[in-house]
Amino acid sequence: MFKYLLYIVVIVAVVGLFSGGFHLYRVAQRNKKEMAPYQGAPIALKGDFGKVLVVYYSLTGNTKDIAERIQKKTQADVYEIKTAEEIKTNPWFYLKARAQLKEGKYPALAGALPDFSKYDWVFVGFPVWWYTAATPGLAFLQEADFQGKKVVPFSTQGSNAGTFLKDFTARAKNADIQPAESFNNLPDKYDAAVDNKIAVWLNNLLE
Ligand SMILES: Cc1cc2nc3c(=O)[nH]c(=O)nc-3n(C[C@H](O)[C@H](O)[C@H](O)COP(=O)(O)O)c2cc1C
Repeated sequence: MFKYLLYIVVIVAVVGLFSGGFHLYRVAQRNKKEMAPYQGAPIALKGDFGKVLVVYYSLTGNTKDIAERIQKKTQADVYEIKTAEEIKTNPWFYLKARAQLKEGKYPALAGALPDFSKYDWVFVGFPVWWYTAATPGLAFLQEADFQGKKVVPFSTQGSNAGTFLKDFTARAKNADIQPAESFNNLPDKYDAAVDNKIAVWLNNLLE
């Protein structure tokens, strides 16, 4: 009896490892294809955005990295969304975040909202959590009124942004939503290509 149980455990573990490895391989292949057009010489910005604000929430630094790259290219002001209570990334946090998304209960935020009226463009970026926007990002959208501003959403995610953009657009009050961009977590070898991807996106926004 014990022997058969052991066989089942080994088979489940092997199948799990194999399908996990295959998923990672497919994601890496997709990233390689998606980033190919952005390899090569640095792409310069074709114009000036005027007054820009970059708003972001980041738990582990990926969205912060993209926000800072946008900031450098546009000389934007930056507003970081912070939660009133620090979020700790233990295994329970993943389940708690999923439950909060289901219930529509988001964490309280720290600090006052930025004054959008001073800006021509407002870039707003969050991580993807459970195929939608991270709960602190949704809390921010609940509080914010963009007052007819050009709002440019961006997300960072492992590989699947799910309904991020649809959910963002539905919640961003009085926003003039502009073409969004989405950034998968990538290894360092794509560093320069990510900058070019941002430059192409920004140049398209300026057209
Ligand atoms: C609770 C949680 C849920 C996540 N869900 C997804 C997901 O549905 N799809 C995905 O591609 N990545 C998912 N991720 C990965 C993050 O979106 C990704 O690592 C993101 O770049 C993190 O941004 P940050 O470093 O700015 O916090 C999830 C991460 C966390 C913590």
